[in-house]
Amino acid sequence: MTDLESLLNDRLAAAFAAVAGEPVDPVVRRSQHADFQADGALPLARRLGRAPRDIAADALGRADLADLVATAEISGPGFINLKVRDDALAGLVGAMSGDERLGVPTAAAPETVIIDYSAPNVAKEMHVGHLRSTVIGDAAARTLDWLGHDIRRANHVGDWGTPFGMLIEHLLDLGETEAAHELSVGDLNGFYRAARVKFDADPAFAERSRLRVVALQSGDATTLRLWRLLVDESEKYFLAVYDKLGVTLTAEHFFGESYYNDLLAPVVDALDGLGLLRESDGALCVFPHGFTGRDGEPMPIIVRKRDGGYGYGATDLAAIRHRTQDLKATRLLYVVGSPQHQHLEMVYQSAREAGWLAAPARAEHIGFGQVLGADGKKLASRAGDTVKLVDLLDEAVARAAAIVAEKNPELDADTRAEVARMVGIGAIKYVDLSSDRIKDYSFNWDRMLSFSGDTGAYLQYTHARINSIFRRGAVSPDRAAAVVLGSPAERALAMELLGFAAVVADAADTLQFHRLTGYLQNLAGAYTAFYDNCPVLKAEGAVRESRLLLCDLTARVIAQGLALLGIEAPERM
Ligand code: ARG
Repeated sequence: MTDLESLLNDRLAAAFAAVAGEPVDPVVRRSQHADFQADGALPLARRLGRAPRDIAADALGRADLADLVATAEISGPGFINLKVRDDALAGLVGAMSGDERLGVPTAAAPETVIIDYSAPNVAKEMHVGHLRSTVIGDAAARTLDWLGHDIRRANHVGDWGTPFGMLIEHLLDLGETEAAHELSVGDLNGFYRAARVKFDADPAFAERSRLRVVALQSGDATTLRLWRLLVDESEKYFLAVYDKLGVTLTAEHFFGESYYNDLLAPVVDALDGLGLLRESDGALCVFPHGFTGRDGEPMPIIVRKRDGGYGYGATDLAAIRHRTQDLKATRLLYVVGSPQHQHLEMVYQSAREAGWLAAPARAEHIGFGQVLGADGKKLASRAGDTVKLVDLLDEAVARAAAIVAEKNPELDADTRAEVARMVGIGAIKYVDLSSDRIKDYSFNWDRMLSFSGDTGAYLQYTHARINSIFRRGAVSPDRAAAVVLGSPAERALAMELLGFAAVVADAADTLQFHRLTGYLQNLAGAYTAFYDNCPVLKAEGAVRESRLLLCDLTARVIAQGLALLGIEAPERM
């Protein structure tokens, strides 16, 4: 284990437990005053009836810290300030360098994790909300996968329901070839809107559409074939977006709403058998505990509509049951925009009442805010429409290409195109993942693509600069070299490096990726200070070897950290 914070935490936890006679969180964290500070004594004071300074001193006396800590002092009301021994730091950094996994252990208890994400709707343009879900879900999948969990990606595509009546009729009006063409080139909005306009304006079309819904629900073969065509063409388009975006979602992860069709009737029966169904206005509903509307009335999830059709909620109930009972998942992540929070919580609560979501299984809504334009308003195209995702991605890459060409004219055309792709797509992902996901964030191209500041490009650039040291010096680092921490900047860099495992564990737990990006920024900052103060190629002997190792380890941590976010790190840029 190279995670210094956990090491200190474990040692102090044992000491505090001995003092208190029960488990205690020593509350260890990085500190400005020393290297670490432990505040565990303060909350114990009242319970033990002793002064916190006294408790701190007692715990410190019992703590086995000699191999890790150089000085330990009690300050203020009872904080413990710890300064770590240089040889301990060096030893841990050396161990981290020698480890393929950079000191990050795989999960002690791997779980089956369902990640429900992306989930665009058939024959409708993917919007920036789907972009957010795709980017955040992909980072979650990569991070949890790296930690050894069994990841099941579930792309809950909206591929069923009443709109398909009008969509199929519109398809027939256009002719199959023309319709397939419009959809596969990604004119999804145009297609949907045209169908909608006819539906609203032409009663005969509306009637045909309604009959078509009935035919679809009753499994009419021709209707199903036409429906499949719509779904296939849209999915082709979604896959093209995923490919451009460089995410791990593929065709095998499509588990659209229709996937659960055969499970819906059994779900209704099961809920009925459990006594959880109630009729309301001719519809069958579940009223999960704890949800009331403004009028104080209990709120329903409509399971079967008055016309006999099933809705979005029924599908989510079938999906959750399938995920815990058939797939045996214990962690269910729903990466869905914040407006659906209540819907999801009602689904979880209903599932709990039905016994389909019981410990250790739990469901988490990984919610997120909106994407705004630079003007702070909802992001829209010039015509006021929703922005097409492909256009957004292409623009990011084109802008990055111009910047890369200006910064490094020596790059050959192929490399430049490749770097531009990594920087442009990386910028889109980074801006999304680097802010608290619950909040809205705004697109500001100049800021997003800057090579300095809180951007993906800055981290990529730091990584590429480190690689250029090895190229210039024609050396490769000895990952087993002894680590020498002679200067404060080397020491500070070592401290940052050793924080990696804790931040990855936190990201896996909270899926708050801005803490990981914040960590990588601090690391890049510590590296820059080190590089400004400590010559590397001009140093000699053991110091040079150690500095090369620190450079290499920093580059590896940045690349791995970015990889968890789905961002590539070019060798040069
Ligand atoms: N298709 C939905 C939408 O675009 C998102 C689906 C989210 N996942 C779920 N299991 N409900 O809003």
